Amino acid sequence: MQKKLVMATNNANKLREAREILAPLGIELISQKEAGAYIEPEENGTTFAENALIKARAVFAETGLPTIADDSGLCVDALDGRPGVYSARYAPKGEECAKLLEEMKDIPDEKRGASFQCVIAYVDADTVFTVSGATIGGKIGYEERGTNGFGYDPVFMCGDRTLAEMSAEEKNKISHRAVALNGLYEKLKEKV
Ligand code: IMP
Repeated sequence: MQKKLVMATNNANKLREAREILAPLGIELISQKEAGAYIEPEENGTTFAENALIKARAVFAETGLPTIADDSGLCVDALDGRPGVYSARYAPKGEECAKLLEEMKDIPDEKRGASFQCVIAYVDADTVFTVSGATIGGKIGYEERGTNGFGYDPVFMCGDRTLAEMSAEEKNKISHRAVALNGLYEKLKEKV
């Protein structure tokens, strides 16, 4: 498939990961800035899907080009799914892992389950849909480990390593974003 999409985000890490995942599938992503959309829509939805649709619709309205948006976050079982849709606002950037470890300090091993969730919204002139993805079998560790990735990756354990200890290639095989973007690819294949 040869296709060019705009990604409605100002988050360079999300854009990089999505590019790495979609490029081998023949989908080229340009950033919203490259498409001329200098906006940051208010993410006032209460679900990942609502927020992803808000962003994709806003950038499509500005550019008129087929647009995708990612809304994602970390859902921790022992915290009833928090920080969830509020993951970006849980703590100042760079302090989210420390705050989470502090909040989890008395939680025993068997109750430290967590997942990353991602919803991708797609909007063009005649189609709107969402696809979702989640990581499987994750746990919150006891210390920050690794320097790859971003956000909560240094405390998110998959097996005996954190996502921040994995290469981009390894993370992109198992991440919530990869699952959702592969779902997007399958839907786009049906469309063309
Ligand atoms: P939003 O989708 O812009 O509301 O922000 C999602 C937030 O969730 C990010 O700022 C990160 O803190 C967190 N997040 C989403 N995906 C990942 C990931 O792949 N690794 C680590 N943190 C993530």
